[in-house]
Amino acid sequence: APITSPDISKCTTGTNLNTQKPLDINCCPPQSAEIIDYQLPPVTQMRYRPAAHLAGKEYYAKFEKAVALMKALPADDPRSFMQQANVHCAYCNLTYPQTGDPKLKLQIHNCWHFFPWHRWYLYFYERILGNLIGDPTFGLPFWNWDNPAGMVMPERFAVQDSPLFNPRRNQTHLPPTPTDLAYSAKSPTNPKKIIPNNLTIMYGEMVRNVKKLEDFYGAKYVVGTKPDPGPGSVERGSHTAMHAWVGENTASGEDMGNFYSTGRDPLFYSHHTNVDRLWTIWRNQRSGPKQPKDFPDSDWLNADYLFYDENARLVRVKNSDTLENEKMGYVYQEVDLPWLKNRP
Ligand code: C2O
Repeated sequence: APITSPDISKCTTGTNLNTQKPLDINCCPPQSAEIIDYQLPPVTQMRYRPAAHLAGKEYYAKFEKAVALMKALPADDPRSFMQQANVHCAYCNLTYPQTGDPKLKLQIHNCWHFFPWHRWYLYFYERILGNLIGDPTFGLPFWNWDNPAGMVMPERFAVQDSPLFNPRRNQTHLPPTPTDLAYSAKSPTNPKKIIPNNLTIMYGEMVRNVKKLEDFYGAKYVVGTKPDPGPGSVERGSHTAMHAWVGENTASGEDMGNFYSTGRDPLFYSHHTNVDRLWTIWRNQRSGPKQPKDFPDSDWLNADYLFYDENARLVRVKNSDTLENEKMGYVYQEVDLPWLKNRP
């Protein structure tokens, strides 16, 4: 049976997955008397998601205003900045018993729900921000770390008085330090090799090392499965490296380098918008019956989750509605894919 929505009244204090100690914060969401089965609204206007390094002043003025307004919402509003950050913690840090097998805990990473779950998370985050500034076309910027032009922390996120700033980052990785998709604190990459190495990594994750669907999406995870059956290529590689690269260089890695705190960094959402974009690109390069784009299993299609929407209503959403980003009302700025030419 598919993984289905948790009972949020059963949420408990989670685990710090970097240190394996209990968390000292409670990241459970507010309760709601009602749960609405979410229907994708008809798309009348597309949201446009620009590359963070190409977006202009006007765009950042809107985006920063939206994030500032989100930070100013009351703490118990499910759309507030901290409540939104806690959504990630609750779904990842083993706070929920698995519906159908309560001995096990729910964790949506390291499995085939990684892409769809994060797509929904960003979807509502973006709609909340758009609503706060009254702009139905607002789209999140993507951190284009798969392209040399984007291989540095996007500038505005590192400006101290910006609402996009966060002090809890590795201070040796601020601009103009190039992002390292093979980052590991223990074995530094030769600085001269970082950019070509990044492109080779992307080629591997997007083309060479992905034959079966699971190779890209991650392993099957259904009721009765223990957390972490196994990540797909992007999740395991560039995605995780960038989390660790941005977060503090400590065992606990706040904010980006730890599941419970990662949503507290505004950069998280641009990082994941790029991951989401890579999913779209990957699907678009598949064709014909030999290259299915997604799992036909009902255990995947019918998995569902709970989120608060832009009107603070608790909604139930499913994987099967995430397949085409255009149907969800957003598109990506088209940029070059230099890694495609990087067949080693
Ligand atoms: Cu939900 Cu990049 O982690």
